[in-house]
Amino acid sequence: MIFITIDRSQSISLTQQIYDQVRNGILEKQLKEGEKLPSSRELAGTIGVSRNIVLEAYERLIAEGYLEVRPKAGTFVALGTSLSFVERPKRKDTPKKAEDEKNTYIDFKAGNPAIDYFPRKKWAQITKEICLHSSESVFGYGEAAGMKELKEALVDYLKRVRGVQCRAEQIFITSGATQGLKLITEMLGKDNKRIAVEDPVTDEMRNIFTFGNAKIFPVPVDENGINPNSLPEQSPSFVFVIPSHQFPLGGILSIQRRLQLIEYAKRMNCYIVEDDYDSEFTYEGAPVPSIQGIAPNHVIYVGTFSKILSPGLRIGYVILPEELVDSFEQIKWFSDRHTSSLEQLVLAQFIREGYLDRHVRKMKKIYKEKRERLVSAIQQNFQGATIIGKSAGMHLVVEIPGVDFCPTFIHKMEQSGVKVYPIEQYSLVKGKHRERIVMGYGGLTLEEIEKGVLLLRKTIESNRKSIF
Ligand SMILES: Cc1ncc(COP(=O)(O)O)c(C=O)c1O
Repeated sequence: MIFITIDRSQSISLTQQIYDQVRNGILEKQLKEGEKLPSSRELAGTIGVSRNIVLEAYERLIAEGYLEVRPKAGTFVALGTSLSFVERPKRKDTPKKAEDEKNTYIDFKAGNPAIDYFPRKKWAQITKEICLHSSESVFGYGEAAGMKELKEALVDYLKRVRGVQCRAEQIFITSGATQGLKLITEMLGKDNKRIAVEDPVTDEMRNIFTFGNAKIFPVPVDENGINPNSLPEQSPSFVFVIPSHQFPLGGILSIQRRLQLIEYAKRMNCYIVEDDYDSEFTYEGAPVPSIQGIAPNHVIYVGTFSKILSPGLRIGYVILPEELVDSFEQIKWFSDRHTSSLEQLVLAQFIREGYLDRHVRKMKKIYKEKRERLVSAIQQNFQGATIIGKSAGMHLVVEIPGVDFCPTFIHKMEQSGVKVYPIEQYSLVKGKHRERIVMGYGGLTLEEIEKGVLLLRKTIESNRKSIF
């Protein structure tokens, strides 16, 4: 619940004032996911503006995915809209959560890698070597684009593994894909802040765009990825795609659609932003090469070490067409000058000496086994369930006919000891994926996976009558 106030002495329009307060209220969790908003008539009456002004603000929030309309029920805060990192200041007397306190439920959150397999010994050994033997300059300020050693190691690695074509000068080392996307939004969003985005899409990435005040144009995704025939007729700043393993639906963008997308970018004179976050982990056939390798002048390629190594490292990269290098350099410098030099050198050596390849090979086996265990647990427990998406990465989507994964049910499941994530949470146009959930398995043990699926079945069975 928040109180909206209007200040007529401000130069900001009344619609914008309402929009800003509701949006910030959602991002800062004053308005909770699933919470009902007052009707436009009611709010207009309370704050003393015309109903059209409230309607206009609500419509914008609906289009951007913050709010959803439930027929005959009203307007609600949509799922997946709060920023996980925004916290209210803690009161002094709030008891501190113990460091190692675990969730009380089995959390099928997608994108959590198996951090227990981080190659600590090798990393520590290389860190010690770099720290003792590098030149002093490493401990001073570095280049905004990052360390030459890491960029050169990436040129070779990405060419071999992802078919990426670039020179080291086109690479910027960032604090994860998150910073890369934030800076791209800042750089390209200046004049035309419309971004064409896959629908459904990861809420974390979508929030980066909307937080940068961009307008989102949702483009539907099916089992072959984004549908280029539904791209906007007006040129967007860029089209954001995850073509090699779409999140959340898990499809691969077919080559026909890749070419259509490139044609579109050329025609509209806009860029494609390709997020390639987990394609090293492909369990059937070879990974599909990047779009960047086909159209390097039209694609901004974003990668990360969060999934193949560790999110705690905060190392990702952006590969730009030559004409964008100077602008990005400025933006990155203003953001944080540069990413930690020492960590970059350790990673460069880790890649050069073949340890990354070895680690990926090992993790592929581990994730493949987890995926197989999850698939067979689903098949044993749910007759008629369908697994959606390519056999890759650290998550899958399952559709269970007759089960509506609405917020009430998700909450019940959490209380029963298992947390799953409805696809509706990631959807901009609501109502198409009610029977589908995404289940991440990367960070869970085989036992947790089996127990979690069993709990899911039991909760569905015990709530069948009351909820569906
Ligand atoms: C689609 C997608 N890309 C990339 C990332 C990685 O972000 P980062 O490199 O900032 O950890 C995530 C994180 O969950 C993601 O969901």
